[in-house]
Amino acid sequence: MADRLAHKIAVITGGAAGIGRAIAERFAAEGADIAIADLADAGETAAAVTALGRRVYTARLDVSAPGDVAAFGREVSSALGPVDILVNNAGIYPLKPFEEITYEDWKRIFAINVDSQFLMAKAFVPGMKTKKWGRVINISSAVFWLNIQNFVHYVTTKAANIGFTRALASELGDYNITVNAIAPSVVKTATTLSSPLADAFDAIVASQAIKRLETPADLTGTVLFLASDDSEFITGQTIPVDGGSVRN
Ligand SMILES: NC(=O)c1ccc[n+]([C@@H]2O[C@H](COP(=O)([O-])OP(=O)(O)OC[C@H]3O[C@@H](n4cnc5c(N)ncnc54)[C@H](O)[C@@H]3O)[C@@H](O)[C@H]2O)c1
Repeated sequence: MADRLAHKIAVITGGAAGIGRAIAERFAAEGADIAIADLADAGETAAAVTALGRRVYTARLDVSAPGDVAAFGREVSSALGPVDILVNNAGIYPLKPFEEITYEDWKRIFAINVDSQFLMAKAFVPGMKTKKWGRVINISSAVFWLNIQNFVHYVTTKAANIGFTRALASELGDYNITVNAIAPSVVKTATTLSSPLADAFDAIVASQAIKRLETPADLTGTVLFLASDDSEFITGQTIPVDGGSVRN
């Protein structure tokens, strides 16, 4: 077994499925203990983490609910210990034309995709400051740079994730806490497969240099790197992990 995250405790939001689940399992395989916050039951991820010999704590909560996130922060610390790594992954991506997006839709997607990252950072960064070591990794999206329809609210939240990453990094460098984001292309998950986004798979793959559909496993190596000591001098960055769709 590899040990790049030995003795680390990692929180992964939205770890019951898709990208978050893949990150949780990869981190556990590298020696981390794992805490998951998800609306859904994360039992399958928990079983996989346990099978890898690591400790796991799961809680069902809405990551956009301030009181629930604060309580989760306290519960994780008492169940596993002080947290070293936070992966803000939970998010939703409903497609809607601009004219049909209501203000309620707008506030909801901001609460889940943006407020959650702020609330989770408020819960876990203080402990990282005490340790003088920490990693915050936010999941943004390559859609920020792409020409994509019916995603005005989503793209705006993913832009906010990039701004949050850059600004928070500036305040935490003195504590050896790095804050970075990744920007995936469209990724094959149960949610995208059953979404109208699946209709855009071919066009998005055509925009990539590597012409195959991205999978969650394509992301875990970069997230692991950002969580490890190997990336200690990288902060405030958003790394496209997208088969070459976005070129810096
Ligand atoms: N799949 C893609 O194509 C793609 C591409 C770029 C970025 N992303 C981003 O990656 C992240 C994960 O995407 P995914 O495809 O794995 O999604 P997914 O739907 O497969 O999994 C998301 C998980 O988050 C949980 N979740 C959703 N809302 C929640 C809430 N309010 N509180 C707690 N848990 C909640 C869900 O229950 C689910 O387990 C999202 O932030 C998404 O924007 C996805």
